[in-house]
Amino acid sequence: MARARRFHAPVAHGKARRLDSQGCCRHAPFEPSATRYPLSLAPPTSPAAPEIDLRITLGRLTLPNPILVASGTFGYAREMERLVDLSRLGGILPKTVTREARPGNAPWRTVETPSGMLNSIGLDNDGIDAFVEHHLPYLAARGAPIIVSIAGRTAEEFVEMSAMVGDAAGAAAVELNISCPNVSHGVDFGVNGVLCEKLVAACRAACRLPIIAKLTPNVTSIAEIAKAAEAGGADAISLINTCQGMAVDWRRQRPILGNVIGGLSGPAIKPIALRCVYQAAQAVTTPLIGIGGIASVDDVMEFIVAGASAVQLGTVNFYNPTVSMAVLDALPAAIATLGATGVAEVVGSLQLKRN
Ligand SMILES: Cc1cc2nc3c(=O)[nH]c(=O)nc-3n(C[C@H](O)[C@H](O)[C@H](O)COP(=O)(O)O)c2cc1C
Repeated sequence: MARARRFHAPVAHGKARRLDSQGCCRHAPFEPSATRYPLSLAPPTSPAAPEIDLRITLGRLTLPNPILVASGTFGYAREMERLVDLSRLGGILPKTVTREARPGNAPWRTVETPSGMLNSIGLDNDGIDAFVEHHLPYLAARGAPIIVSIAGRTAEEFVEMSAMVGDAAGAAAVELNISCPNVSHGVDFGVNGVLCEKLVAACRAACRLPIIAKLTPNVTSIAEIAKAAEAGGADAISLINTCQGMAVDWRRQRPILGNVIGGLSGPAIKPIALRCVYQAAQAVTTPLIGIGGIASVDDVMEFIVAGASAVQLGTVNFYNPTVSMAVLDALPAAIATLGATGVAEVVGSLQLKRN
């Protein structure tokens, strides 16, 4: 196996980014990060694309490539089919489903922030029966692995839904959303290691499919929860879900979100997500899926080098819906830049010693 070379990124030292009056980068919101950051890989201009093995293995799950789309940011893929070649994706995570249909939270449910968005959707969905009957057959015919995201109010609901997804045709894996900040109950499994381990183990026992645990960053120690998910037998660990946040309309002296508190996503949370992936990678050997503010191939590579075997693109799908295709196009050249012939070779290749 070829050894990955150290990543010498062309950092523009001493070049301060211009800040506006609120201390935010003027151009930060919703620009592709290749233009926002000094860390930039050359676009894949070479006509002879290198032969790079993009396949990745997450426990019992093998995916064709590491570029997945995150739950809640891609609908049930119908909205995206005219924009994205869905069959090229490494995996699609449809909106989280619950046992019963949920109307979600009262408006407002989303607010734009200087570098991302706040949402408090509240798991608005049609329930798992409708999902299995109506959405899953459509998704399964798209040609990409479908990873079904589920959230229960209780452990019993999680287990029951895991079994239902395992029994239905068309799913490649189950992601346990134990991290939604916008509903009560379900998130308890993501902040308590004992509950997390038991839940993952119970879902694994009830379902023939690989099980992925999706963690919240809103904990004291992400490493502890990752260890619990590993002890429960998770095939992979996704991290992170949104960070808790809030927006205020001071003139009306009211919170903007109907649910008062919501989840922050997008470029603002990328450093938090990278830190979580790095800390989890130090704590467990279970494969990790990085999520949080990823918007370019450079972002993807940062997560892979920090320890993620795959990534999910989330909020970026709202403002750059074809980004997954651009990232897939650019990924082989980025891997080759590190002197590697496959994604797996560069996972966790971060060098900590200065030289
Ligand atoms: C509008 C919206 C809805 C979301 N809904 C879900 C959901 O149903 N299930 C889930 O696991 N995560 C959900 N998420 C979280 C994303 O999957 C992702 O973990 C998070 O947004 C961080 O990634 P990002 O910064 O790339 O968006 C949602 C995020 C947004 C912005």
